[in-house]
Amino acid sequence: MNPPNLAIPAFIFFLLCTIASAQSPAPAPAPPGPTNVTAVLEKAGRFTTFIRLLQNTKVADQINTQLNNSNQGMTIFAPTDSAFSSLKPGMLNSFTDEQKVELMQFHVLPSFFSTSQFQTASNPLRTQAGGSQGSFPMNVTATGNNLNITTGVTNATVGNTVYTDNQLAVYEVDRVLLPLSFFQSPAPAPAPSKPKKAAESALSPSDSDSSTPDDSSTANYLSKHGVGAMACAGLVFATFRRTL
Ligand SMILES: *[C@@H]1O[C@H](CO)[C@@H](O)[C@H](O)[C@H]1NC(C)=O
Ligand SMILES: *[C@@H]1O[C@H](CO)[C@@H](O)[C@H](O)[C@H]1NC(C)=O
Ligand SMILES: *[C@@H]1O[C@H](CO)[C@@H](O)[C@H](O)[C@H]1NC(C)=O
Repeated sequence: MNPPNLAIPAFIFFLLCTIASAQSPAPAPAPPGPTNVTAVLEKAGRFTTFIRLLQNTKVADQINTQLNNSNQGMTIFAPTDSAFSSLKPGMLNSFTDEQKVELMQFHVLPSFFSTSQFQTASNPLRTQAGGSQGSFPMNVTATGNNLNITTGVTNATVGNTVYTDNQLAVYEVDRVLLPLSFFQSPAPAPAPSKPKKAAESALSPSDSDSSTPDDSSTANYLSKHGVGAMACAGLVFATFRRTL
């Protein structure tokens, strides 16, 4: 091995060690007062069914966690108790547990929208239930001061602002927003195809340890330069081998 070839690994070595030592603990940001979505809804007093479903599906916890750990904000469409009672009898109970989770997530947008921001939002909007393109489309259209929502199944009107703090917005809606996917027949499941070769090729010995001709020269270099940090040496060696 020629001495000039050591320049690259030596550079990488010092880079890695510099990066490693430069990693200091991240400064703790001042925690904002935790927002609790169910507390916000309870205060309004007409969302008992929505609150119960948010809690039973644990979506309330997801919302609170996300609210307090990101700065995207959230928007929630809260159907009133009378919205739930105007559903077809037995409909809610006909949903599976998974659908109940999706139903709750469908009422949540993963970013903050003021009423005026809806005027320029591009449809369909993305909800927590999934991508806007797939089975969970939601359009919000504005006419003057009125905001309407359509899901392809439900038409609803956005009512009072229950809560807003520029991080969380909660709007009352007069209908439970039903996702289109709940009423479409499921797509036929694709025929399972199991590539049997995968397991065999994973056991191929070709990737196991081969001869390492540069081992000693690396070690010599390290000891000559009085470097004792074995962790760094390991990193360098791994990088060194990849470089060759
Ligand atoms: C919004 O909904 C209301 C009540 O259903 C309806 O009168 C109005 O035409 C709708 N507006 C739009 C833009 O769809
Ligand atoms: C929602 O809006 C998109 C884009 O304008 C449109 O293609 C789609 O048909 C709308 N869906 C519903 C349910 O209105
Ligand atoms: C929702 O509104 C659209 C357009 O205004 C209408 O064509 C559709 O029938 C309505 N759907 C329901 C379920 O009311």
